[in-house]
Amino acid sequence: MAGKITFTMIKPNAVKNGHCGSILHMINAAGFCYKGLKMIKMTPGLAKKFYAVHKDRPFFNDLVDYMCTSPVVVAAISGDNAVESFRNLIGATDPKTAAPDTIRGKYGESIQMNAIHGSDSDENAAKEIALIFKDEELF
Ligand code: RTP
Ligand code: MG
Repeated sequence: MAGKITFTMIKPNAVKNGHCGSILHMINAAGFCYKGLKMIKMTPGLAKKFYAVHKDRPFFNDLVDYMCTSPVVVAAISGDNAVESFRNLIGATDPKTAAPDTIRGKYGESIQMNAIHGSDSDENAAKEIALIFKDEELF
C-alpha cells in the first residue's frame, strides 16, 4: 500500500527568488501537512549522498554544485498516496514540459533549476528524511 509520507526540498533558485511562501502554500492547499520543516545550506558531501543514484550521470557534478549555491528549504510532508500525489503536484522534471498549474510549471527556470524536489518512492522518501532530519525535528 502506498505510504503517507514523502520528502521535498525547495531548491536554491526558488528560495533565492522569494518563492518559498507561495510554494509552501501550494503544498498545504493540495492537502499535505508538514511533519518537519527547516532551511539548510547543503554541503557537497550531503548533496552527493542525496543524489548518489545519479552519480554516473553527466549532470551529476553540476547538480551537486548547484544544490550548494544557496540555502534550500526541506520538509517531510504527509498526505494520502504521498509520493505519487506530490509528484503530480510538482510536475515534470523539465519545467518546459510541466503543466502550468504545477509547482515546476509556475516556478521552474530550467531542468536544473526546477524549483523543487519530490521523492520518487516510499523507500527513497524514508531514506531522504533520515538523511536530512534528526528524529527530534519530526512531529
Ligand atoms: P528530483 O529528484 O529533483 O525531484 O527530480 P526528478 O525526480 O524529477 O528528476 P531526476 O531524474 O531524479 O533528476 C534529479 C535532478 O537532476 C537535475 N537534472 N538535470 N541537466 C540535465 O539534463 C538534468 N537532468 C536532471 C534536475 O534538477 C532534476 O530535478
Ligand atoms: Mg528524482
